[in-house]
Amino acid sequence: MNLKPLKFGTVTIDFPVVLAPMAGYTDAAFRSICKENGAGACYTEVTSAEGIRRDSQKTFQFLEVSAQDHPIAAHIFGKSVEAMVEAAQYIEKLNRFDWIDLNCGCPVKKVVRRGAGAALMKEPEQIGEIVRAVKKAVSLPVSVKTRIGFSPSFPDHLTIAKIVEDAGADMIAVHGRLACNFHKGEADWEKLGEIKQALKIPVIGNGGVNTPEDAAEMVRVSGVDGVMIGRGAVGNPWLFDQIKNKPAEPPSIQQRRKVIETHLLRLVELTTATAAGRRCKTKFIPEQAACLHFRPHLAQYIKGLRGRRELLQHLNEMHDVKTVLTAVDNVLEQNQ
Ligand SMILES: Cc1cc2nc3c(=O)[nH]c(=O)nc-3n(C[C@H](O)[C@H](O)[C@H](O)COP(=O)(O)O)c2cc1C
Repeated sequence: MNLKPLKFGTVTIDFPVVLAPMAGYTDAAFRSICKENGAGACYTEVTSAEGIRRDSQKTFQFLEVSAQDHPIAAHIFGKSVEAMVEAAQYIEKLNRFDWIDLNCGCPVKKVVRRGAGAALMKEPEQIGEIVRAVKKAVSLPVSVKTRIGFSPSFPDHLTIAKIVEDAGADMIAVHGRLACNFHKGEADWEKLGEIKQALKIPVIGNGGVNTPEDAAEMVRVSGVDGVMIGRGAVGNPWLFDQIKNKPAEPPSIQQRRKVIETHLLRLVELTTATAAGRRCKTKFIPEQAACLHFRPHLAQYIKGLRGRRELLQHLNEMHDVKTVLTAVDNVLEQNQ
């Protein structure tokens, strides 16, 4: 696939196939797994600018970064220019992020109701104001993650993308679906191509890449400078390596087992560290919380394997690492 290293501001992404931000999924544990398997860069889970402003502990856990994460963007959402600026300045002072990414595409009700995320696409001048103010307030590069629009009745993809560029953003990542369609339907890679043609800043394309062939086809159709992968990487972090190195064989059962175990153990470590810093007690001990959090990943790791259905039936009862891994071994043995 014809992708050159992607450069914007002080950031260089040598292999510009990156892990998308996904709330509830792209914590430091999963990011490290994807990076080790070839992802060129990653984003934090979405982090509330107001939460940073209010000094909320729950918010700060999203800003933990591991050594493997780089290059990494702090991915923040908010509606007000002031909150986004304060959050960006706070992030810059942390001195652990390579760039700041502004969420202008999240369609989730609780975000849109506050006028943030995808709601900003209904009034793209507000996006322009936020980008301009954040750029002025920090020296880290600033990017925007948005979509090709909110719905057919609002400003189109080119209007939004031009406003982002004119306001001074260093890079834009665009999900080729309308916000009103959430994650359903085909992503429109031709519209990504129109954005690429219209802008001078680098454009990362996103939406519907689940195989190496999809990645190559997105680049061929749209000419984007980079590819962002969301759901296709869940349960299949090897996708990055498959795009990068074209290995002859898919991951063996032993490789899958190793990655599942490493991912889960890192999640336990992360959950333990987060719990230690908490002021109030949580319902579950860290190992239990990690096993519960791991459920959607595990369901994808064993997708298509014999014995999956039986494991999924008992998923909610698996509260410790040993039980999870015994159940995984049971599935994998049936597929040797
Ligand atoms: C569970 C989940 C959580 C997501 N959270 C975010 C988020 O916090 N911020 C964001 O910009 N996009 C978010 N997205 C959208 C993804 O970043 C990506 O744009 C979308 O999944 C399309 O890419 P894909 O077709 O490769 O999955 C989320 C998607 C999913 C499935």
